[in-house]
Amino acid sequence: MSALIEDVSARKIINSRGDPTIEVDITTVDGFGSASAPSGASTGKAEAIPFPEGGVEEAIKKVEELVAPEIIGLYADEQEEVDRLLRELDGTENFQNIGGNTVYAVSLAVADAAANSYNLPLFKYLGGSLASDLPFPLGNVVGGGKHALGKATDIQEFLVLPVGAPYFSAAVEANAKIHKKLKDIIRKVDSTFTGGKGDEGAWAPNVTNDQALEAVFSACQEVSGEIGFECKPGLDVAASSLWEPKKKNYVYARDGLSRDSGEQIDYILDLIEKYSLVYVEDPLHEDDFQGFKELTQKSRRCLVCGDDLFVTNVKRLSKGIKTRSGNAIIIKMNQVGTLTETWETTKLALENSYVPVVSHRSGETASTHIAHLAVAFKAPVIKTGVVGGERIAKLNELIRIEESLGEKARMANLKI
Ligand code: PGA
Ligand code: ZN
Repeated sequence: MSALIEDVSARKIINSRGDPTIEVDITTVDGFGSASAPSGASTGKAEAIPFPEGGVEEAIKKVEELVAPEIIGLYADEQEEVDRLLRELDGTENFQNIGGNTVYAVSLAVADAAANSYNLPLFKYLGGSLASDLPFPLGNVVGGGKHALGKATDIQEFLVLPVGAPYFSAAVEANAKIHKKLKDIIRKVDSTFTGGKGDEGAWAPNVTNDQALEAVFSACQEVSGEIGFECKPGLDVAASSLWEPKKKNYVYARDGLSRDSGEQIDYILDLIEKYSLVYVEDPLHEDDFQGFKELTQKSRRCLVCGDDLFVTNVKRLSKGIKTRSGNAIIIKMNQVGTLTETWETTKLALENSYVPVVSHRSGETASTHIAHLAVAFKAPVIKTGVVGGERIAKLNELIRIEESLGEKARMANLKI
């Protein structure tokens, strides 16, 4: 079996928002791999730049003219070498020449091709034969912020996490039930509700943050009672979108109020207490390591997760570990670009008891790679929505992985 790379090609496809993105194919002597890049709407300012100037067309040109000649002739299982080359070819910290999404697609397609060349599923190729922990699915059921034209809730995502699920497919069904139940609950609170959804398939009603939380809390309780295990609410505040640096305030336009940093921390702590939240992502803006520290210290039994704060970057996570800011980290491979660096950040998180949460982006493709990454990386949580073809593609892949593992399959160890 040979993973010698023989051909590399790239094309333009469209993502779930209807925007263009890049897909890369890699052919080896004995296999084939392919990967397409997702993209964000509420991006962190320290993320890799998604595309070079000139967009997807320019990215394709870079793959064909710059990347392909360098990696044809290498072996697809030399991941670190390929990723080092991509860094060298780009020459910038944030991949602004080639584009983070271009790097994402090449790097992941290489891994995909290597796995295929050895006749292994990607999660086994990357994680070894012991990779058998299934992540808990964290899903967005109500949302607003930048994913719903700023017209729904100020808080970007109201999430559910089926913490008591005995196995993965039961967890997925629980989330779907909660999503469905919420349609009826919301209809009673918002008479103007048309069943509209945001970018990630979450309902986007015209309600206050508190009304949304009440609704999600009661849907979780009802469904937990029906299915016999616990499902708990969570939030992605995406607070950088609310933060106005000049005013030094978080502005809740829909709710018609502002909070300074101290008030924001108290507000989030109140919500954690009142609604038994088990997960809070980006409760403070992307440079507030100190605020994250204070909130993490004061909140009990809750994951305090950094997305825009850490941007899957090993240096930013190291800083957070030193200051004890947060206890969980979003892992979005295209924030950093290469698979090697994504694993480095995930490994550092695991070694320091930060919970890695492997995550989709709001603009997705039907690719299932992140399902494999979550199992290979032993991530206790995967955040990938509840409904919508591009979201359930990942969830259904994990159902298949669970089935293929048979008796070895078990839920990850999630300590909250
Ligand atoms: P995205 O953000 O729009 O950048 O993908 C989703 C999130 O904030 O988790
Ligand atoms: Zn986020």
